[in-house]
Amino acid sequence: MCGIFAAVNQNPVTQHLLTGLSCLSYRGYDSSGIAVIENGLIRRQRAAGKLENLRQLVEGNPIQGLIGIAHTRWATHGLPTEKNAHPHMTEEVAVAHNGIVENHHSLKLRLEAQGCEFQSETDSESIAQLITFHLRRGMSCQDALRVALQEIEGSYGLVVLFRQQPDQLYVARRGSPLVIGRSNDGYFVSSDENALSGLATQVYHLQDGELGRLSTSLFRLRDIQGNQKACRFVDFHQMHVDSGKDGFDHFMLKEIHEQPAVFERCLRQYLSEDQERLEYPIPGSILEKVSRLTIVACGTSFYAGQVAKYWIERVAGLPVDVDIASEFRYRQAPLDQQSLAVFVSQSGETADTYAALQHARKRGLTCLAIVNVVNSTIAREADYVLPIHAGTEVGVASTKAFIAQLTTFLGLTLALGRASAYLGAEAERALVAEMLNFPEQMSQLISQKSMYSAISRELRHCSNALFLGRGISSALAQEGALKLKEISYIHAEAYPAGELKHGPLALVDEHLPVIMIAPRDELLGKSLSNLREVAARGGRIILFSDKEGIEECRDFIVQGHALPPVHELLQPLQYTIPLQLLAYYTALIRGNDVDQPRNLAKSVTVE
Ligand code: F6R
Repeated sequence: MCGIFAAVNQNPVTQHLLTGLSCLSYRGYDSSGIAVIENGLIRRQRAAGKLENLRQLVEGNPIQGLIGIAHTRWATHGLPTEKNAHPHMTEEVAVAHNGIVENHHSLKLRLEAQGCEFQSETDSESIAQLITFHLRRGMSCQDALRVALQEIEGSYGLVVLFRQQPDQLYVARRGSPLVIGRSNDGYFVSSDENALSGLATQVYHLQDGELGRLSTSLFRLRDIQGNQKACRFVDFHQMHVDSGKDGFDHFMLKEIHEQPAVFERCLRQYLSEDQERLEYPIPGSILEKVSRLTIVACGTSFYAGQVAKYWIERVAGLPVDVDIASEFRYRQAPLDQQSLAVFVSQSGETADTYAALQHARKRGLTCLAIVNVVNSTIAREADYVLPIHAGTEVGVASTKAFIAQLTTFLGLTLALGRASAYLGAEAERALVAEMLNFPEQMSQLISQKSMYSAISRELRHCSNALFLGRGISSALAQEGALKLKEISYIHAEAYPAGELKHGPLALVDEHLPVIMIAPRDELLGKSLSNLREVAARGGRIILFSDKEGIEECRDFIVQGHALPPVHELLQPLQYTIPLQLLAYYTALIRGNDVDQPRNLAKSVTVE
């Protein structure tokens, strides 16, 4: 989603701005732009489409200066055109903005009535126009910005250049992250700490309600009322950024292949010395008090929560609610103070999940974050954090982060089972022993390229697909359908197989591929009966099950893929792999941009 990069430096900044933007590009974007102060004037270049378009524009018409701001835009208000790309500017001011100006319509009407001429369809332009309006009424740069921010409703991470102050960069935050990086030659600012790698030695995470002014040698911080504030930079421990594809065609494929190592890293992070249990950095006194869990997340992270619900209810005997973050805070659910609220987010920056966390905190719940990015906003604001140790995930479609979220949840399940005395030591030992062998089994499954290619040929020309599962596999079916639709653009639905007769069976005919996830568990017999109902209506069934399950259905399925036996609690991790790879190879055969699917962003920082 939208990304900000800015610099004020003793050396020319244009190259830094372009490099900064390319570090942000994995988040998904549809246009980009930079603005630099050159010889006392703000100069801007913007381009729709890939960053390469902007790069060529800047090469053809270079702009140079010691201070500049840059942005990758993911369209929310207005089409992804050059005119709507950031920075937005007037003669006096240039602005790059992440977030949403909720009252932009009324601001625009008010400013237009005063003679301001808007150039774009975006909400963000109202910030540049509003600041300019206050400047023209005689306010100083800082006051014009401060007063404008008080009038804006919504969220922002903001970097601002003023023509009047060609050596000062302003930054402000409310609800959308910004990190300031200090180097020997000046300051860099970004909405994503990764983009500061190799540049900054120390960082400061701007807090909500703060407004900063930077020059090459000075950083001054105030609150929005104008009161000075102190801040403390901390040493920057750079996250390892996987910049290359390591010989794979796509980041997504590379990240799928990393999953055995990710699983092992995550497991070993929490493994006790005697290798018999997983130990989590949450005090036993907290876990023992938990009477209910509320898991809140979006997208793939939400489906990880759905899988965890089945595990925790079964192994720890605790009730679990799983909520979509964008619904959670608006549905006025009565929240129990003894509940543990768990927020799951790969990026740790998803706006809805963050807002849900703030909501839960206000209601006095203990908040646990399960995140990949450990310095993220969600991680910083939770009471407890469980990092998933997946490493940087670049592919927009989440794969290794899902596996790492499941691994972390499985460990949490064991910790809760132990705390509630529901889980015996012997059962835990047996599972941990199986977990230690599991990476090897994952690798074997990932290597079966011919199986996934065969499925992709089956799905290649279809417009719809149905994913089915029962019990915990119904949660996996949802993740399988999401993966397929987001990168192959095939419409896919997921249902608990037992629900089929209550409506979706009407969709089944000889054109509909039906992907069934049926591992060996207590529901296998029921799953296969549901499958016969599909077969009786001519559905083209692709079945994932064990060897006997496949044999039993041999005469009515189009394809059957047998997975080797594993501990029942590991089955969701195991059955995830074919679902990811069938989506990958289907998207590939359809010629889609696998790593950056249309319309999607890696980090969703607006509501
Ligand atoms: C799908 C996908 C998204 C994310 C969702 C939440 O492959 O990646 O559905 O899972 O946007 O993102 P995080 O986990 O960063 O909060």
